[in-house]
Amino acid sequence: MDGSLKLEAGAAGAPFYLAQGDECEVFAAAYTNNLPVLLKGPTGCGKTRFVAHMAAQLGRPLYTVACHDDLAAADLIGRYLLKGGETVWVDGPLTRAVREGAICYLDEVVEARKDVTVVLHPLTDDRRILPIDRTGEELDAAPGFMLVASYNPGYQNILKTLKPSTRQRFISMEFDFPAAPVETQIVAQESGLDPDRCAALVRLAGKLRGLKGQDLEEGVSTRLVVYAATLIAQGMSTDRAILAAMVEPLTDDEDIKRGLLDLVTAVFG
Ligand SMILES: Nc1ncnc2c1ncn2[C@@H]1O[C@H](COP(=O)(O)OP(=O)(O)O)[C@@H](O)[C@H]1O
Ligand SMILES: [Mg+2]
Repeated sequence: MDGSLKLEAGAAGAPFYLAQGDECEVFAAAYTNNLPVLLKGPTGCGKTRFVAHMAAQLGRPLYTVACHDDLAAADLIGRYLLKGGETVWVDGPLTRAVREGAICYLDEVVEARKDVTVVLHPLTDDRRILPIDRTGEELDAAPGFMLVASYNPGYQNILKTLKPSTRQRFISMEFDFPAAPVETQIVAQESGLDPDRCAALVRLAGKLRGLKGQDLEEGVSTRLVVYAATLIAQGMSTDRAILAAMVEPLTDDEDIKRGLLDLVTAVFG
């Protein structure tokens, strides 16, 4: 890694992010070397926060695109629009990032339509170009441009995985829910609830995550633990907050819900 690149803790305005390991260093090294990055991991484990934090640390503007099954290449690149009777070209977020040397973050990239990955390929190798067919332009990515994508490998959808030809263009990092002491610190910082009570919520989260695969498709996210702690910090009773933030969001099945509530009782008495 380029020794000149320093990661200052708490650079002005950087969103709070507590590292789980060496992910900040790996991301910074990828940035310095113009390598695209893919973040894998379950929903609500800190991927988006991580990218926001790193963009601020590295001093790059950030364009985030939440991908969905209707998202087409034109949504990223741009399109001609009618403005006051005239047709004008309007850059999409990817094109803007390429021009400005910003970080472009494609959240849940596997959701996007297939033509999107084709657009990404010439940006992810050492050409770093973005051809814009509609205008005939071919943009060289400005220094500082970085492509970051995320996806959740947990969703078992055969049609929605990344092709090896795409996947092998990215430095990849696996994210998971933080270890209990780290998660406790995160929840306390985000919610303002005292660390002891946060630790109990994190302990419950650990138990609920143990049910993943049997009864639950996804374990409770760090985001939901933060929600529960926030409600409790605002004065809601612990039982009510846990039901609203850590049980109801996980299942619609009454039997499974009863099982989850038994776990709550086991942890909180
Ligand atoms: N390592 C972390 N540092 C700080 N906050 C975190 C961390 N991990 C999770 N969070 C909290 O969890 C919430 C959800 O994280 P987010 O980045 O949106 O998840 P993802 O993008 O993986 O779905 C954040 O808003 C933040 O409150
Ligand atoms: Mg996210």
